[in-house]
Amino acid sequence: MNTYRIASIPGDGIGVDVQAEARKVLDAAAERHGFGLEWTEFDWSCRRYAETGSMMPADGIDTLRPFDSVLLGAVGFPGVADHVSLWGLLIPVRRAFAQYVNLRPVRLLPGTTSVLAGRSADELEMVIVRENSEGEYSTLGGRHNDGQPGEFALQESVFTRVGVERIIRYAFELARTRQGRVCSATKSNGIIHTMPFWDEIFAEIAAEYPDVESEQMHIDALAARMVQRPDLLDVVVGSNLFGDILSDLAAAITGGLGMAPSGNVNPDGAFPSMFEAVHGSAPDIAGQGIANPVAQILAAAMMLDQLGERAAGDAVRAAVERVLGAGAVLTPDLGGTATTEELGAAIAEGVTAPHGQSELVG
Ligand code: NAD
Ligand code: IPM
Ligand code: MN
Repeated sequence: MNTYRIASIPGDGIGVDVQAEARKVLDAAAERHGFGLEWTEFDWSCRRYAETGSMMPADGIDTLRPFDSVLLGAVGFPGVADHVSLWGLLIPVRRAFAQYVNLRPVRLLPGTTSVLAGRSADELEMVIVRENSEGEYSTLGGRHNDGQPGEFALQESVFTRVGVERIIRYAFELARTRQGRVCSATKSNGIIHTMPFWDEIFAEIAAEYPDVESEQMHIDALAARMVQRPDLLDVVVGSNLFGDILSDLAAAITGGLGMAPSGNVNPDGAFPSMFEAVHGSAPDIAGQGIANPVAQILAAAMMLDQLGERAAGDAVRAAVERVLGAGAVLTPDLGGTATTEELGAAIAEGVTAPHGQSELVG
């Protein structure tokens, strides 16, 4: 029996609640599909920061290195500035483990109250390939003339040829396994150095893939298209910041942030990848037991795919669809009254007894 070593970092706020449900669902999938999951839990969080002055220990990255994968809840909570908490945990892991692809699949599932209700799932099924290691997220820059009339801040973006080529190539390879279309998010009308560079590299790589349809759109127009004509989109590739913003928009059109999973992927497998929901720690609903665990459960299913347990990943996705489609157990964001735990338990049960429902009906 294969046993995988998984590092679990629940983190902050609703990260803790949705992580617990994802673990239940994964344990059910492991039992049913004949593999083992050996969990090691880390308390790295804003709470730890308040107690010790750091989000994770100095050797945190080395501690994670031997694991097969990392499942992360959410990081960030009022009391610790966001740039301190996120640059103290989430972003260093992404970078140390060369998780340069942030893969964010977008699907319209049954039971969701999307602004695009009435569309079918095949009209809204895309994936955002977000650059995850450089771009607008950089430490280069500084603040000057503190407190003076001439005070200013400078923030540099970093676009390397290696970084841009590899993320765009990843998007084209992925498109070959899907509908064969790539749309690049740009803003080369307003941003005159980095974005024309991005566009040039996009054109070069597109020429290597004549079998894949390619186009580029300015990010503003692309945002509008995502809402009005999502059926035209298959693989969307964008820089770190553009991919970040587009993925919350994509979550919103598929029923909300509680629905959207994400994988920080190290494609060559030299380091562990890390899976998490697109959403954050949701301080506004933390501690109420009402967060939707679906995003985290779907992220966990992506982790199973990455571990090579595709059948188990499919079983988790099928259980999510059956439970949402039945409409009996939905959290408040989906228009129901169920708790995080009730929805998690219903999905775990659906993985354990995948044919239970049809047997009852038929
Ligand atoms: P957020 O995603 O936490 O919340 C945005 C809104 O969506 C809130 O109204 C929240 O209640 C709702 N929401 C999010 N997830 C939900 C779920 N599963 N079920 C139901 N409703 C849900 O974004 P924010 O408020 O901008 O950020 C809060 C904190 O999380 C900040 O500290 C931020 O830096 C951090 N954050 C962390 C991650 C991460 O760890 N990957 C991602 C995004 C934000
Ligand atoms: C995400 C989050 C993070 C990001 C933040 C919390 C730094 O919004 O994973 O989408 O922008 O990468
Ligand atoms: Mn985000």
